[in-house]
Amino acid sequence: MQLGGKIAVVTGVSGGIGRATAEALLAAGARVAGWGRTAPQGLQHEHFRFFACDVRDEKAVNAACQATLADMGGAIHVLINNAGLGVAGLVDGFSTDNWKLMFDTNVHGLFYCTRAVLPLMKTQQEGHIINLSSIAGIAGIEKMAGYCATKFAVRGFSQALLKEVRSEGIKVSCFYPGSTQTNFFDDIPGTEANDSMMHPEDVAATILYTLQAPQNFLIADVEMRPLQPRK
Ligand SMILES: NC(=O)c1ccc[n+]([C@@H]2O[C@H](COP(=O)([O-])OP(=O)(O)OC[C@H]3O[C@@H](n4cnc5c(N)ncnc54)[C@H](OP(=O)(O)O)[C@@H]3O)[C@@H](O)[C@H]2O)c1
Repeated sequence: MQLGGKIAVVTGVSGGIGRATAEALLAAGARVAGWGRTAPQGLQHEHFRFFACDVRDEKAVNAACQATLADMGGAIHVLINNAGLGVAGLVDGFSTDNWKLMFDTNVHGLFYCTRAVLPLMKTQQEGHIINLSSIAGIAGIEKMAGYCATKFAVRGFSQALLKEVRSEGIKVSCFYPGSTQTNFFDDIPGTEANDSMMHPEDVAATILYTLQAPQNFLIADVEMRPLQPRK
């Protein structure tokens, strides 16, 4: 897809991969709607709009979608389902609230955002949805069972959705990043973001590359890792 003038929604734009992706899209000439709880501080661009929205709230997601269409010109060509979080801990004693928080955000929120844009993309016979899973969506990680379960769910959802919509000209790609230097690790005991991790700008560059592939060429799954994670 040529991104100039296209309208892209990115969820979770306050920092990390979401903000880096919004900035990369803007640099490529796209118009970007950020859907999230927290606006990206200092991101001023004539083609950027922030729509306050907790992705766990389906009414808020639908309202953000309507506001985006009203404000940005009646089309949505790209959806980057990025908003997400992880809570670590042994399954034995793991808090039900934290379990539900992860599923409500990483799985249900992603479903609400996808469902909101799909009718439009079908009408357009064009669209690209990129879902942020994780290496934790490919292999289990100790003390991350709940997070892994959500990211495996994102992988299954992405593969099934692709089969549902590819005939309508809509692409679905699933991304599996390894450790990336963001605020994700702020609440995960024992792991701190560090320079050996990947940089969110590099993940964003790979998202852009995937979006810009020729129309009849789909990059379906993208696994990314730091080459030397423990330098
Ligand atoms: N960092 C990694 O190593 C890594 C690896 C693989 C996959 N991922 C995935 O990549 C995605 C982005 O993570 P990141 O590393 O960039 O982490 P991050 O810096 O913590 O960013 C997460 C973003 O999601 C937003 N968010 C969380 N809950 C939300 C909600 N209920 N409604 C709306 N927005 C919400 C956050 O907004 P607030 O500021 O309002 O909280 C923030 O903008 C996540 O899906 C994560 O699981 C990360």
